[in-house]
Amino acid sequence: MSIRKRLIISNAAMIVMPILIIVFIIFLLSAVYSDGAVIGKHFKQQWQSMGEKNTELFLNLQKTASLDQEKFLNTDYLESLSEQLNRESVEIVIRKENDLLFTSNPQIKNDDLPPFGNEGYNPAGARVGEEHYSIRQHDFYFKDGSKASIFLLDDSASFVKFARTFFPILLMSLFLVYILTNVFLSYIVSRSVLQPVRQLSHASEKISKGDFDFVIKSKSKDELGQLIRTFDSMRGQLKESLELRDQYENNRKEMIANISHDLKTPITSILGYVEGLQDGIANSGDKREQYLDTIRSKATYMNRLIEELALYSKLDVNSLPFHFETVDIQAFIKDYLEEISEELIEKDVKVLFHSNISHPQARIDRDKLIRVMENIIFNSMKYMDKSPATINISIIEEKNMIKISVSDNGPGVPTEELAAIFNRFYRTDPARSTGGSGLGLAIASQIIEAHGGKMWAENVSTGGLRVNFTLKKPEDENDE
Ligand SMILES: Nc1ncnc2c1ncn2[C@@H]1O[C@H](COP(=O)(O)OP(=O)(O)OP(=O)(O)O)[C@@H](O)[C@H]1O
Ligand SMILES: [Mg+2]
Repeated sequence: MSIRKRLIISNAAMIVMPILIIVFIIFLLSAVYSDGAVIGKHFKQQWQSMGEKNTELFLNLQKTASLDQEKFLNTDYLESLSEQLNRESVEIVIRKENDLLFTSNPQIKNDDLPPFGNEGYNPAGARVGEEHYSIRQHDFYFKDGSKASIFLLDDSASFVKFARTFFPILLMSLFLVYILTNVFLSYIVSRSVLQPVRQLSHASEKISKGDFDFVIKSKSKDELGQLIRTFDSMRGQLKESLELRDQYENNRKEMIANISHDLKTPITSILGYVEGLQDGIANSGDKREQYLDTIRSKATYMNRLIEELALYSKLDVNSLPFHFETVDIQAFIKDYLEEISEELIEKDVKVLFHSNISHPQARIDRDKLIRVMENIIFNSMKYMDKSPATINISIIEEKNMIKISVSDNGPGVPTEELAAIFNRFYRTDPARSTGGSGLGLAIASQIIEAHGGKMWAENVSTGGLRVNFTLKKPEDENDE
């Protein structure tokens, strides 16, 4: 339920609930005050409960008033009246003009009673001292024409008495019920609002301290539940990006360490040879020539390393432009092999070619793909430990891709290191390194990824390494 809905319902409940509770209390009180009767019947019941005897007495008095009113002047008769009264709370008064001929309660004064002419029942009829009485009055005339009234006063049936006890209780309970419902509903609503707010503030505190390793959850479908879920996904993303940042930072540090190491080795030897020349250690022309050759080869290596690094970082930040064209990839590879045929013959490498389609077309950047082929084939030659060396190249058409595999009969790579050879600076055995930087395959796989393909390596069952990569077929051009 949304918070808006909840607030509306709680506000409505704050009005409706006390009303219902008050109605309930009224029923309860009326039941208590009227022995199970509802309030409307209250007074009637009270009169009935005054007792048959008193009612009878009143009727008798009325009868006497109309037939034999002179009896009221008889003291003996009046005395017998007071004996007949069976209830303490019921009083009888007989008045002639302003004189009270009879009163069962001497405290009742003429001033307390309604004047002549108020015949009937009056619920809030008289007040005597602190007592309230309801009054039943019967008016009549004496023979001499003087005005007279008979009063039956009942304090227990007095409306005022009832109201005086009933209304304060009602008011008090109304007040209490309003406060209680208010407190109760405020607690319920605030709990549903405050708890998630507390959860959020706790979580933000943790995040501000750099702690992202927690989860905040909410099953609630309201706005705050939604906020909690969004907050948690934000925390997750922040955590991921920070981890990525740390990883980049580590990679950067590692790369700097690798670069400085790879540059330091040739620089140290260059310096050594230069000093050798300066100090005259190379005393013969041949030796000087040999020193200079070494210096040149070290400098060339450094130059290549720096070029490769520059290329790698350009590929890494996607700032290297690619010029794609649709090319017959079989013809392209054959041309390339033709170009390096001299080297292949020199190293006694046999290249076998296989393709399952006649003119496989692919979208490539020629220069970049030459770099890829060059690295794979020269790796095979560089790490070859057998003679004759054989390189198998196959081109296989697969759905919308062309797969090119280059396998050799060399030593292969330990299975657990197959994926790592594509990492920059990775060399399976740096000690036996043949002067490579370990950047070749990292660059090659970046280039293949930029072509929309992927690159992976596996060991050939007969021994040797197979490097595979895929290229997109021209049809895909429209899909991009
Ligand atoms: N055909 C292969 N046979 C055996 N090991 C290989 C082969 N190709 C690559 N490797 C291993 O993978 C490592 C990474 O190759 P990669 O081409 O990235 O670097 P490199 O050849 O050492 O340096 P660079 O290519 O920059 O001159 C190599 O050092 C080598 O250990
Ligand atoms: Mg290489």
